[in-house]
Amino acid sequence: MLKEPKREVKSAGIKYVILAAGKGTRMKSELPKVLHEIFSKPLLGWVLDAVGNSESIVVVGYGAKKVEEYLESFPNSSPVVQKDQLGTGHALKCASKNLKDFKGKVLILCGDTPIIKASTLEKFVKNHDEHKASLSVMSAVFEDPTGYGRIIRSEDGGVKEIVEEKDATDEQRQVKEINAGIYCFNWEEVSPALRALKNNNSQGEYYLTDIVSWAVAKGLKTQGFVIEDKSEIFGINSRRHLAIATDIMRKNKLVELMDSGVTIVQPSTTSISPDTQIGEDTIIYPNTFINGENTIGRDCKIGPFAHIRGRCEIAENVKIGNFVELKNVRVSKNTNISHLSYVGDAQVGQDVNIGAGTITANYNSITKTKSETIIEDGASTGSNAVLVAPVKLGKKAFVAAGSVVTKDVGQKSLAVARGVQKNIVDWVKD
Ligand code: UD1
Ligand code: CA
Repeated sequence: MLKEPKREVKSAGIKYVILAAGKGTRMKSELPKVLHEIFSKPLLGWVLDAVGNSESIVVVGYGAKKVEEYLESFPNSSPVVQKDQLGTGHALKCASKNLKDFKGKVLILCGDTPIIKASTLEKFVKNHDEHKASLSVMSAVFEDPTGYGRIIRSEDGGVKEIVEEKDATDEQRQVKEINAGIYCFNWEEVSPALRALKNNNSQGEYYLTDIVSWAVAKGLKTQGFVIEDKSEIFGINSRRHLAIATDIMRKNKLVELMDSGVTIVQPSTTSISPDTQIGEDTIIYPNTFINGENTIGRDCKIGPFAHIRGRCEIAENVKIGNFVELKNVRVSKNTNISHLSYVGDAQVGQDVNIGAGTITANYNSITKTKSETIIEDGASTGSNAVLVAPVKLGKKAFVAAGSVVTKDVGQKSLAVARGVQKNIVDWVKD
């Protein structure tokens, strides 16, 4: 049951700034870039997960209203609007009005870098503290550093400056160590730099990266932190990147699950959301898609071709077979939902057998409301049963195949709700 726990970076007095004002022109989308989704969660949501419960200031700009709306469900984060996107340095300046008199560390992240892990941020801050740095920059070594700012080191190994590709000399462009766009600042020491930023560069922007050379000139200690797993700082600028990041997260999750004792029969056709936890000895068969937050117990068999859409709690030794779709259901142990069923907004007891093609009709399209189906322990449905919610099957109740059940079925009762079969003899004329 491995999942990176949501946690605060263990160091007192840390606040986060997440830069998320950019439009993301290359996404070719109305939607602000940080609201594009991976496993149905916005990019920004994944970044906020890494931040855990710490206080964060999110710089919003393009599509600010929508991003602010999304942030409403995160009580520890507050949006700050950057009206015109004048550069990353200007974005931090906008955030700084919420950091007046703050004396701790500020960790700066980008809202379009969803793969970053809490544990990596923790190591980054630890490294910053151990080196007694005033400013730390996260970096990575890329075979192809195109597009990124380059890290220019000083003789003592500190970071001397960051040069954007567009402003770099040919020699600087050869440098393969790039700026990941994640920083840790001792706020009191470093924040005065914001007043000194200028936009006399090739893009006419206020660069956050210029703070590094400012700090060096002031005699402050700067530190570089080379990340182990480069994929964590993968930033999204296009739909292609979105697909690549989705695949990285998918593969990371499958590896994590296999390492924790889950069999993934065919990783190449299996997608499991990072927010899903699965117990030991469960087997996931090919072409299974598990999205959103779910817990699946041990010794289960899921798939092939199963679709679990989120908010599902599945106990141990449960079978979810082919072409079964589940959403918002609790399934107790030893239950089988083996073929061609849709079960949504339901509680399913233990030792239940859901026959092939059973459907919970949970949605009323006139009232636009959803209702719950309760199936108690030991109940059984025949093939092609429709359970029109709200409805309840009592303990060990039976539903005959082909029934449309609109009334509750008492325990140990049999519900038959279908036309009576009539056989017309000699119906075929020779
Ligand atoms: C930035 C860095 C570069 C680094 C790269 C890593 C600067 C000047 N350059 O470049 O060294 O290698 O990130 O990915 O910082 N944003 C705002 N307001 C703005 C501009 C940007 O909030 O006015 C946000 C964007 O939404 C994005 C982040 O800041 O989340 C980074 O901006 P982006 O334009 O992508 O910077 P890069 O050119 O990639
Ligand atoms: Ca970028």
